[in-house]
This record gives sequence, structure tokens and C-alpha cells, in this order.
Amino acid sequence: MEHLVNSKVKNIELSGIRKFFNMVAEYDDVISLTIGQPDFTTPEHIKEAGIQAIRDNFTTYTQNAGYIELREAASHYVKEKYQLNYSPDHEVIVTVGASQAIDCTFRTLLEEGSEVILPSPVYPGYEPLIKLAGGIPVYVDTTKSDFKLTADIIKPHLTEHTRCIVLPYPSNPTGVTLEEAELKEIADLVRERDIFILSDEIYSELVYGKAHHSIAKVLREQTVVINGLSKSHSMTGWRIGLLFAPEAVAKHILKVHQYNVSCATSIAQKAALEALTVGIDDASDMKKAYRERLDYVYNRLVNMGFEVVKPDGAFYLFPSINKFNKSSFDFALSLVKEAGVALVPGSAFSPYGEGYVRLSYAYSMDQLVKAMDRIENYLKKNDN
Ligand SMILES: Cc1ncc(COP(=O)(O)O)c(C=O)c1O
Repeated sequence: MEHLVNSKVKNIELSGIRKFFNMVAEYDDVISLTIGQPDFTTPEHIKEAGIQAIRDNFTTYTQNAGYIELREAASHYVKEKYQLNYSPDHEVIVTVGASQAIDCTFRTLLEEGSEVILPSPVYPGYEPLIKLAGGIPVYVDTTKSDFKLTADIIKPHLTEHTRCIVLPYPSNPTGVTLEEAELKEIADLVRERDIFILSDEIYSELVYGKAHHSIAKVLREQTVVINGLSKSHSMTGWRIGLLFAPEAVAKHILKVHQYNVSCATSIAQKAALEALTVGIDDASDMKKAYRERLDYVYNRLVNMGFEVVKPDGAFYLFPSINKFNKSSFDFALSLVKEAGVALVPGSAFSPYGEGYVRLSYAYSMDQLVKAMDRIENYLKKNDN
């Protein structure tokens, strides 16, 4: 009966990151730097709030958009941190991770044949959702502009079918982010056109040495901001995402969300309220640790001769492996077999990721030191 499965679903594939992660699991003694998941545990006070929610029988449906105290806290959070103004009553939706927020947004905004611009290399979570919603992903090469999508690069790709541009900054897999002036130029290009921005800001709390800016500050009516607690508060398994959009759009996204999940998990919402109030700055200690790791790994890679753009945020590095004359898959595989280190082949992040590998430094310093030593030895061996 498989022939009856919806063709759009049949044609999407499992993520290349997961595929590689599963393959690596078959090898012994491999240090895996493949997964984009904080190695910190969820802060204790947040866990306690979740436990207390169960004790208090906060275990029923909440309002579809999320429980109002949490929406108020989320609204306050983005105002305080990023100077954004969203009404908790009509413009904030609590979702099941950022992933569900992205899905609901595409399903609300796209028509059959709508084109969506993706700065590439890019997080592989968008393409399948765009296709399921009937849209067409348009990959735009950012490898010549240090992985930044600029207004000039976007312009030639705009057509009458362009409905959405995804701005995923700071970026997974490159760690690069956009400056305020760069965002303003994109806003100027898009304003007056029937185009939305899906601004995926899930790494907004992990920007090093500069401020995070949201394009919604200058293009509010055309932007859907997606954020969440997975990365900032090390809460990937709690599945709490946050969506901010002008009321005229949010009220439609809410319908998709409602029929999809009713609401995010009530218990996780209580934990999220604690995170966004008492734990509003919980990311800062983690950020300090990530930054030390970034400096360490970046310097080691540069000393080994890798060409790598120094990231501004998130917890990834995306070095070029062009000089090794191997595909990113073959390079990553030989690294697993001969060095005992797993990195994700760049090809998992769209065709423009070929020629690179992604390294996640959301791992302990011990593991990172060992992994760097192993890569260095591997390169020395293969030089002789
Ligand atoms: C850019 C980006 N957006 C969204 C997500 C999904 O976040 P969540 O786990 O909250 O669904 C990820 C996860 O890795 C990501 O890297």
C-alpha cells in the first residue's frame, strides 16, 4: 500500500545530520561533534517548576496560543532583550519547539508554487516543511559572502512567486549572524513587496561580543519571528517554541497550530514561564562557556590550516575542506574511520554546503581537546 502514501511525503528524506549520526553510532570510540544540542542540563529551578506543575495538577489543556502568563512573559522577554513589541493577547503563540512554529508559518503563508528563499548552506529543517506546504525552496549561495545573505544577493532571486525569505541568524550551520545595517537593507528591499520574512532567531541568546538584532524591529508587519527555549535554556526535550507575528497573520497561524496540537504541553509551559522570568538571563553562563570553546576550537582549526569563517554566534563552526579533494561525505567518513571524530558532512545543509563540514562545539572542553588532537594527528598522518 506504500504507493498510496502522499507523494510529497514520499519525496522528503530523513535529515542528513541524523543519518550521519546513526551511521557513526556503529563505530567504537568515536568522539561525535555532530549534534546541535547544548551539553548543559536544564537549570535546576526550571526543572523544579516543571515538577511543581505536575504536583499542582497543571496537567490539562491550556489556551491554544499558550497560557496567558507565559505569553505575557514571552512578550516582555523579546521587548527587554530585542526591543520588539508584541501583544500577549493576539500576537504571541507558544508552540511545540521552534520546529512546529516553522511548520505552522509555512502552512499559513505558502500557496502551491510559492517560492521561499533560503540562504545556503542552511539548516535542513526548512526544505521538507516548505515542500509539504506546496512551496518551492530557492537556495541562494552565501559561500562567497562569508555566509551572509545580503539584499544584493537576494535581489536577483526575487520573482513574482517569491512569498517568503528565511533569515536564520545566527546561523546553523555557519554560526554567522547579520548586523543591524544588513538587516535594514534587506527590510528596505522587501518593504512594499508581498513578501514575508521568517526570522528564525532560535540562537539569539548565543551571540558573542555583540548585540542580537531582529529584523522585526524595522519590518514588523511582514515578519514572523521564531524563537524558543531549546538552545537558550538547554531545554530541547521540553519542546517549547515561541512565535511572534502581527495580529493579522498570527490569528491565521493560530488556527493551524490549534488543529495541529491544541496547545504546547502544559507542564513544559510552566517550566518555560520560570525560564523567561526568574531565568531570563540563564543563557549568560552557558554563553561564556561556549565562547571559550569557540575560541579554542577556532584557533586549533586555523593552526591546522583549515579555512574557517569565525562565527558570531550559535555553537557551530563550518570549516572548508576543499583542499582535501574529497566530497564532504567522504572526508567526514574517513575522519570517523581513521581519526575517531565525527563531524557532519556539509552536503547535509543543501548543495552549497558541499566542500565544508559542520562541527558542533556544544560538547565538553575535554571532548573538544581530544577531538582536535585526533584531527591534528589524522592530518599529519595523511600528509606523509
Ligand atoms: C536554526 C534552527 N531552527 C530551529 C531548530 C529547531 O528548534 P526546536 O528544537 O526548538 O524545534 C533548530 C534546531 O537545531 C535550528 O538549528
